[in-house]
Amino acid sequence: MTQRRILVTSALPYANGHIHIGHLVEYIQTDIWVRFQKLRGNQCVYLCADDTHGTAIMIRARKEGRSEEALIAEMRDAHIRDFSEFDIEFDNYGSTNSDENRELCAQFWKSIRDAGLVKEKEIEQLFDPEEGTFLADRFVRGTCPKCGAADQPGDNCSKCAATYSPADLKDPKSTLSGATPEIRTATHLFIELEQLHEFLDEWTQSGDHLQAEVANYLKGHFLGDPLRDWDISRPAPYFGFEIPDSPGNFWYVWFDAPIGYMASTKQWCDANGEDFDKWWRDEETEIHHFIGKDITYFHTLFWPGMLKSAGFNLPTKVHIHGFLTVGGEKMSKSQGTFVMASTYRNHLNPAWLRYYYAAKLGSRLDDLDLNLEELVAKVNSDLVGKLVNIASRSAKFVGGQSLADSYPEDGGLFEAAAAKADDIAAAYERCDYSGAMREIMALADAANRYVEEAQPWTLKKDPEKQGEVQAVCSVALNLFRQLVVYLSPVLPRLAEQTVELLNVPIEKWDDVKTPLIGTPVSKFQHMMKRVTEEQVTAMIEESKAENEAAESEAAGDQWNDGPEALAAEPMSEECTIDDFVKVDLRVARIVSASDVPEADKLLALTLSLGGGETRNVFAGIKAAYKPEDLIGRLVVCVANLKPRKMRFGTSEGMVCASGSGGEEVFLLSPDEGAVPGQRVH
Ligand code: MSP
Ligand code: ZN
Repeated sequence: MTQRRILVTSALPYANGHIHIGHLVEYIQTDIWVRFQKLRGNQCVYLCADDTHGTAIMIRARKEGRSEEALIAEMRDAHIRDFSEFDIEFDNYGSTNSDENRELCAQFWKSIRDAGLVKEKEIEQLFDPEEGTFLADRFVRGTCPKCGAADQPGDNCSKCAATYSPADLKDPKSTLSGATPEIRTATHLFIELEQLHEFLDEWTQSGDHLQAEVANYLKGHFLGDPLRDWDISRPAPYFGFEIPDSPGNFWYVWFDAPIGYMASTKQWCDANGEDFDKWWRDEETEIHHFIGKDITYFHTLFWPGMLKSAGFNLPTKVHIHGFLTVGGEKMSKSQGTFVMASTYRNHLNPAWLRYYYAAKLGSRLDDLDLNLEELVAKVNSDLVGKLVNIASRSAKFVGGQSLADSYPEDGGLFEAAAAKADDIAAAYERCDYSGAMREIMALADAANRYVEEAQPWTLKKDPEKQGEVQAVCSVALNLFRQLVVYLSPVLPRLAEQTVELLNVPIEKWDDVKTPLIGTPVSKFQHMMKRVTEEQVTAMIEESKAENEAAESEAAGDQWNDGPEALAAEPMSEECTIDDFVKVDLRVARIVSASDVPEADKLLALTLSLGGGETRNVFAGIKAAYKPEDLIGRLVVCVANLKPRKMRFGTSEGMVCASGSGGEEVFLLSPDEGAVPGQRVH
């Protein structure tokens, strides 16, 4: 078998948000594929980067009063931390805001210009006079020109489904400032994709590079008509790279983002003495992109077009996956199913999610549902009940001793499992991980039946049968190791634990073909815990709480409607005096206040309720108050609120405040004379 040279990428996550369990579908899927290729002995590099440019980052940095560079540096650290917690191992993690990327963009640009693909057009665009910036469609809302529905997005109506240009909206408002946008004309640069139509027909429909459903979709939706010109420039102000021969204009984020794959490759090559052209110009190299279905268009039409024009290799394959749903529904902030990677990690083991996703992922584009009860059941039955059980029921009888000097008679089990190597490899190769997991678990069932029948724990009691104990355990541990090798792309930590137990490294796929003999066995160490429903519930609760805090911040982000609009917030349903007294409101004194560095909006407060009674609470008031100004002041707090576990500790109550969040927060305070502990009626 010859060694393949394979370059693999995952989509570059936007630097304006944290990694969540939806993203993880993709990064786990890709990481498994890369680990599999490495185990097969192929030369494989896994490259990724943060996608840093665009209006969203610019606006957010402005709001937070810091530079874009400071913002993206912080997000980069957070992304890298999240990925490493989930054992997602990149060979290089770059940034689209790098020198390498700027140079490559210029190189692409020159080729595309030279090929005569660029043209200039004047276009009318809405401009926010208060923010001093042109507005992307999604930053404009107004009344639908067709049906008159209020507060509709800039490009299409959610009521009547009409599509229009944001300039057609009636009564448009900028969502950044609330100002009425002006129409301004600006010159934009366009790539005439239609000139590449024939090439794209051929490349997309050849049957090799795309899943069949993707090829059909492109044919049906885009390739049947002339391809539209692609607007790749944005006028200043824009956070990105200025176009060298078009001062005042910047490349649109989707122009420089995929080039970021190559910039990351360049960094890796420079650090490892590798030749960049070998990876992007040599036909021997395979290029595999993993992406979600929402960004199909960019990766299957624009990107191949750009590569073709600039004379680089085309992708060997674009692997497209579906979207994550939770409990059959879209991930939802209010239901706590929009779970951040770090929130998951606070409660559950990343290996469980890796295995669960593997068990659900096939080669097609179907959406994938995370059913939390199923996760609990699957992890406990497959990983703990079947897999680890084989080791725990055998290793403890031979810990500190050695495996048998020749491989014992096992009724053909080892050989049968080894014979599956090609099938299982083929399933991984075509991204049919669920198929691979099914085959592996069937082998685990057979190994378990063996241990069940051989009963090493019974043999152990008979001093004359110690040889048999060693034989049975040698078989069981070799069958276990085979399974772990097959699963090692999915469960790298379990593979490490197995190496510690059996003292022989796992280095290649073909390790499944040779049993270990005569090697020492370490003392058995616990390998994996069962997952409990409580852990899952706690994760969802924390996720809900975080999103409530985030939502009140987002409310502060909205353009301010003015005092009338706030007064118009609808009244809650009627309640009785009994309902009201259930809430135990108390006067409290803030005795300490400190920053929670990991949280954007929270301060940690200690409240004294008098008589030695205190509460630690996290309050979303960081943007409005400095900790040192709070110490000593009186507030009103909810003293009997059920404690809520958060990432940084437990919050034991709430301080009362009005306002929409962010800087618009006003703490309530009792008049002079009130003392801590007094009840508020
Ligand atoms: N920055 C662009 C990609 C540029 S690639 C040159 C982007 N970023 S993203 O952060 O929004 O998404 C990163 C990847 O995660 C995308 O492939 C996207 O499809 C995937 N997912 C984001 N949310 C997802 C789910 N809920 N479910 C599955 N995949 C999801 O797009
Ligand atoms: Zn409408």
